[in-house]
Amino acid sequence: DAGFEKGTSKKHGRSKCKQKTIIYFYLPVPPLQQTLNMYLKCTSHLITEEQLKKTKAIVEKFGAPGGMGEFLQKKLLERSEHTANWVYDYWLEDMYLSNRLALPVNSSPVMVFPKQNFRSQSDTLRFAAHLISGVLEYKSLIDGRALPVDYARGQLAGTPLCMDQYNKVFTSYRLPGPKTDTLVAQKSTVMPEPEHIIVACKNQFFVLDVVINFRRLNEKDLYTQLERIRKMSDIEEERLPPIGLLTSDDRTQWAEARSMLIKDSTNRDSIDMIERCLCLVCLDEPSGTELTDTNRALLMLHGGGTDKNGGNRWYDKPMQFVIGADGSCGVVCEHSPFEGIVLVQCTEYLLRYMRGSPSKLVRAASMSELPAPRQLHWKCSADIQTFLTSSADKLQRLVKNLDMNVSKFTGYGKEFIKKQKMSPDAYVQVALQFTFYRCHGCLVPTYESASIRRFQEGRVDNIRSSTPEALAFVKAMDVEKMELLWTAIKAQTNYTILAITGMAIDNHLLGLREIAKELKLEKPELFSDTTYATSIHFILSTSQVPTTEEMFCCYGPVVPNGYGACYNPQTDHIIFCVSSFCDSAETSSDLFVKTLEGCLKEMQDLCTKCNTEAKPKLLFTFVFEKVSSFAF
Ligand code: COA
Repeated sequence: DAGFEKGTSKKHGRSKCKQKTIIYFYLPVPPLQQTLNMYLKCTSHLITEEQLKKTKAIVEKFGAPGGMGEFLQKKLLERSEHTANWVYDYWLEDMYLSNRLALPVNSSPVMVFPKQNFRSQSDTLRFAAHLISGVLEYKSLIDGRALPVDYARGQLAGTPLCMDQYNKVFTSYRLPGPKTDTLVAQKSTVMPEPEHIIVACKNQFFVLDVVINFRRLNEKDLYTQLERIRKMSDIEEERLPPIGLLTSDDRTQWAEARSMLIKDSTNRDSIDMIERCLCLVCLDEPSGTELTDTNRALLMLHGGGTDKNGGNRWYDKPMQFVIGADGSCGVVCEHSPFEGIVLVQCTEYLLRYMRGSPSKLVRAASMSELPAPRQLHWKCSADIQTFLTSSADKLQRLVKNLDMNVSKFTGYGKEFIKKQKMSPDAYVQVALQFTFYRCHGCLVPTYESASIRRFQEGRVDNIRSSTPEALAFVKAMDVEKMELLWTAIKAQTNYTILAITGMAIDNHLLGLREIAKELKLEKPELFSDTTYATSIHFILSTSQVPTTEEMFCCYGPVVPNGYGACYNPQTDHIIFCVSSFCDSAETSSDLFVKTLEGCLKEMQDLCTKCNTEAKPKLLFTFVFEKVSSFAF
């Protein structure tokens, strides 16, 4: 309870916890030479000799005394003096807002819930009402600043983590723009606005007010309203075109369609209601597919396309709870306001809430005097119809193109790895490198997200997992393997610590690039060099998203010839969600997963065969030497 002040709210007769104000460290700007050396170390084994020679010269010139690097570093340091987090705006723009790709598959991660067994439509609606009740409870914890502060686990455990991201879960909206999107935050007003949720059903959108006459709807009321919505969605004559499909298109296209749409006041009002809602609840039709883990993941990622539930979404909203009549449930998340870890915390709360507080519905409430939910209306011009046809085509292509494999590796889990005195995360990362090497005969620039929430407004930086040490290990898997496995694990763990203490290179390089742009300087050669472009083309995009509830997270690849690899290490097994695109001749998710299972087995055999007891303590020494000036 270190982060709390306890008080008693007499009015409600229960004790209330309030978050104490925690002062977070400002994100440091790493030393220039450290970043440049690390940049060369991270890229040198991934490019040709000739290219390396060229890049070395460019880096040397950039970092020379009195050179451009020193000038930009000074400007960045100045920026860090007067901003809470010097990289936040640059990072948000670069990582999300300026990315023009469609949100489903390419950007929005999903959480896949355990399959539900709904026996009837009322079961589904009961589940929805229960879930919405949980959402409202959770939202009031956020609003009352009563959520327990998160503390770092694993490496450098115990530091409090910045809670800023939670405030954006139900209050933000990603507005599409012609060149770049905007992350809009709902303004808090003195008089709280009546809150509402948007329910999507049969591609129609309905406003479900959750506060009526200053009273929050209870679960019974919510159920009644959901039943009314279900009935309204059944009236075929009232059905309108699936406007939500537009939000699944690439961002520039959707921005164009949106500006055309809002010329009409009916459309403007409808869009306004969606943009200001807390979240969406998507009541999906049965998908007609076998509900394997992989198929449920696909249904969450893209809704199964236009002939299934692809139009029953509004991708700009951060939280869309999907409740399929066939029991396929989960959350689709617009990623720009917060990280997967926050999403996990929120959804785990909801699953626990639903398990711990049994549904308060014995039977449906009689039609009460509650005002009926409202269907949102759309005026669809011929131009909008053309946009809709094009968005539908593109979504179908995206659906056809996604090659997904969700698998549970049951050979062993975190426990076995910890017994080897190795970091489970570093071990899985080295196994992913090993797998890539086995499948493709080389290593490629790799992204692993590392949380920098130890710092104010911290989001993530990148652990470049394709280290030279990993290459040495995977190449030499038949000679002196154990020694090299140790070295590769050590390199990965060291990089992790650099990243989570704000000393990684990706955010720093981004800062140097963007501040040069801001100062209207010519782009430094460092950033027009092929090595730089190659180094940020993340063929392997990875992330650990652990859960304590029975669910998993997944997402798509970030480049056309790449893999998305999300993993969830558990005590005795590891869930891997690997994605790629079918139209890339280079990739195959099935092959990757099959190879990964083999690599994990080989690494286990290696560890078991060798006595590793004598090795451990080396792991942290290198890093603490490097970042000793930075203590928590
Ligand atoms: N010997 C034995 N045990 C070890 C060990 C070693 N050498 N090194 C680590 N461990 C233990 C840890 O103490 C920890 O124990 P716990 O399960 O009791 O907490 C456990 O192994 C896990 O630690 P590790 O595998 O090293 O990973 P981590 O939890 O520190 O995670 C990152 C590393 C990079 C994933 C984490 O710092 C991070 O940034 N997470 C956020 C990722 C993210 O943002 N994902 C969502 C993106 S949208």
